[in-house]
Amino acid sequence: MRRYDFALLGFGNVGRALALHWQERRAAVAAELGIELALTAIVDRGAALHDATNLPVAALAKFKQDYGALAAWPGIGPALRPDELRARGVEGVVISLPTDLATGQPGLGWARAALDCGLDVILADKGPALHALPELEESAALAGASIGTSATTGSALPSLDVLRTWFGAARVTAIRAVLNGTSNLILTRLRQPGANYASALAEAQRAGIAEPDPRLDVEGYDTAIKLLILTRGLIDPTLTWDAVERRGITDLPPGAVAAAQGGPERLRLIGRAWRDGGRTRIVVTPELVAPGDPFHALDGAEKAVTFRSDDLGELTVSGGASSRTGTASALLRDLIAAAAART
Ligand SMILES: NC(=O)c1ccc[n+]([C@@H]2O[C@H](COP(=O)([O-])OP(=O)(O)OC[C@H]3O[C@@H](n4cnc5c(N)ncnc54)[C@H](OP(=O)(O)O)[C@@H]3O)[C@@H](O)[C@H]2O)c1
Repeated sequence: MRRYDFALLGFGNVGRALALHWQERRAAVAAELGIELALTAIVDRGAALHDATNLPVAALAKFKQDYGALAAWPGIGPALRPDELRARGVEGVVISLPTDLATGQPGLGWARAALDCGLDVILADKGPALHALPELEESAALAGASIGTSATTGSALPSLDVLRTWFGAARVTAIRAVLNGTSNLILTRLRQPGANYASALAEAQRAGIAEPDPRLDVEGYDTAIKLLILTRGLIDPTLTWDAVERRGITDLPPGAVAAAQGGPERLRLIGRAWRDGGRTRIVVTPELVAPGDPFHALDGAEKAVTFRSDDLGELTVSGGASSRTGTASALLRDLIAAAAART
């Protein structure tokens, strides 16, 4: 049995969901795949705990939930750096920190330092992928390490590594997608009598699927970032944020939701990427979709993506609602792949 020690950086909604999901699935992963995934360290704001044999994951999650910080946990130490984790036998780190869109920090600095000392990096935090995925992939290749991005592009939807294999030599020419579960949940709830924007957003926050700063969801940034990561990986590696035109559901004109309520069409926050002459464009904007459109039936926090390619035609994947478990499962999938790549 191959043992693989990993650490969590960030013990918020995503970090805790992964810790609890790992605890539930670790025996099955060991029995079915022959990989013993061991969560041995948690690094949160200003605090860290390492225990190679028995990290009290459920109690730590409850403590952080109840008190908002791990600092008062008995025996907790100061935050550990990547090299200190490596020295304790850790092989991979899952990064789930709030994203600063302008810089990709603090996750980007962490990802670089982790790869420099040979750790695998699994990203939930989109900042590092947005700013430096090609660089991080190159560093990972040089270090013989892996980089996982499943949770940065829609968790339950197919991840970039799978898509690159899937399309092979075929050229993806366009992507159309609903990628933000929180916005779709809000638009779904607003069709119901008596529903309002604030309570729908609060529902997404209670479910742990909203961004730490929910403006990233409802103003279209989250959709644009996910689409930019996918488009760079599949269509145009040179694409930058300047190519993005973005509006969110907060940009809908007054009355647009009410006007859509009675009719057969549905409002969706849609991102499109396509080649336009010599350049690639990304536009994110709320749109009305007609019955029969594959995005019409999306319910609540569900997402969907359609890829158009020269050899393989059009392919739509839909469902995969945003959820704590969905994100945790995507991260676990990346951890399994990273561990398998080391065996
Ligand atoms: N929620 C989802 O469904 C989802 C899905 C995919 C990806 N993501 C991404 O995952 C990331 C985390 O999301 P979340 O919902 O878990 O956010 P969150 O609940 O705010 O958790 C972030 C955690 O990181 C800690 N932290 C902040 N700065 C830190 C630092 N410099 N060093 C160490 N720890 C630090 C925070 O501590 P404090 O509590 O003290 O602030 C908190 O425990 C975000 O980038 C988000 O975009 C989220």
